[in-house]
Amino acid sequence: MQNVIPVAEDLLYVGGSDRKISLFENLYPVPKGVSYNSYLLLDEQTALFDTVDASAGDLFLENVARALGGRGLDYLVIHHMEPDHSATVRRLVGAYPDVTVVTSRKAAEMLGNYFPAEEFRIRTVGEGDVLCTGKHSFTFLGAPMVHWPEVLMSFDSASGALFSADAFGTFGALSGSLFADEADGAEWLEEARRYYFNIVGKYGVQVQAVLKKAAQYPVKRIYPLHGPIWREDLSLPIEKYDLWSRYLPEERGAVLFCGSMHGHTAAAADLVAAALAGEGVNAKVYDVSRTDPSVLLAEAFRYSHAVFLSATQNLGIFRGMKTLLSDLAAHNFQNRKYALVENGSWAPQAGALMQKALMECRGLTQLGETVTILSSVKEGDLEKLSALAKTVAEDIKRQ
Ligand SMILES: Cc1cc2nc3c(=O)[nH]c(=O)nc-3n(C[C@H](O)[C@H](O)[C@H](O)COP(=O)(O)O)c2cc1C
Ligand SMILES: [Fe+2]
Ligand SMILES: [Fe+2]
Repeated sequence: MQNVIPVAEDLLYVGGSDRKISLFENLYPVPKGVSYNSYLLLDEQTALFDTVDASAGDLFLENVARALGGRGLDYLVIHHMEPDHSATVRRLVGAYPDVTVVTSRKAAEMLGNYFPAEEFRIRTVGEGDVLCTGKHSFTFLGAPMVHWPEVLMSFDSASGALFSADAFGTFGALSGSLFADEADGAEWLEEARRYYFNIVGKYGVQVQAVLKKAAQYPVKRIYPLHGPIWREDLSLPIEKYDLWSRYLPEERGAVLFCGSMHGHTAAAADLVAAALAGEGVNAKVYDVSRTDPSVLLAEAFRYSHAVFLSATQNLGIFRGMKTLLSDLAAHNFQNRKYALVENGSWAPQAGALMQKALMECRGLTQLGETVTILSSVKEGDLEKLSALAKTVAEDIKRQ
């Protein structure tokens, strides 16, 4: 079985999609699966750009054989050594023993950590080095920590193609069409945002650096390692990556995260959200126990303002909220405004502890005072909650 798809005059898609996988990296739910992209160039010399995850290995090897049509394989370019793209390197090299692996020095070291190094013929390349295959010439750009240290991108001066490694990738299997302009852009954005903030988001500075480098080349197409290929209008992925990596919110509005055992803190969240809506502000409520942490993280980055509402649990922060706050700090959450609501029946502590957890993040500003609820929302609390909502709404509308 094979599924080779031409994507340019002499470039073929030889990757595959996994729709059975439930957790990517055993962490992130992927209800629509994920694709592992690999591209084969048939120039005077042949070159394969990355391999695939073990789950797509059989299909991939059949694809490569079919696409080569009896020709040999001259080069395997490895842009990224993470196993979702390199698990099949050894099988590939076993099938094409004369192939030269072209990769960064750091990736070559990693290759030797995954597989016996003596099995590979390696040519290391770095910033500005060029691989010429005939008509095509690939210039390598270092992309350290986007999102591993060994990552390379490459730019083909003949076609304007940028092979971008994991950057510009997204969750979700490919559905026949491989081009972003033939798919649903809104769907791409939702999942690309979740992919970015969970996997790449910690490294905004490094993403900025590589965006600046890539901007010096006349890029016409972007070939990522996951999800659709971008051609012609590249503005959506580039604008989003620029915004996300500068840690700027995409939307002015408030996202409310609530952690509640018996429903009273959740009731407070609904009251704050309703008051925000009454002020004409876009608000969204998430129950931290019901929504996957990867979605919560992406939503926190998406909006300009967040309200964290937590019941006190054994003198601590409610479990899902604690996870969210530590995920935010671990992913460099910054430059946002937030408000706090705590609840407790005998010794409310969640507010002070949430404040402390958020002090791990840079450039955050608390709006209003922390509202404390004792067990359930009462008459006096209503006023405090709507006053807090008003403060948040005014701030959202101000800028
Ligand atoms: C397992 C458990 C531990 C709790 N620990 C505390 C606590 O340490 N301090 C406190 O003030 N309330 C504590 N509470 C009470 C909750 O904070 C209480 O559910 C809250 O006042 C009401 O909010 P909720 O309806 O949103 O859960 C605890 C409740 C449970 C079920
Ligand atoms: Fe990766
Ligand atoms: Fe990847």
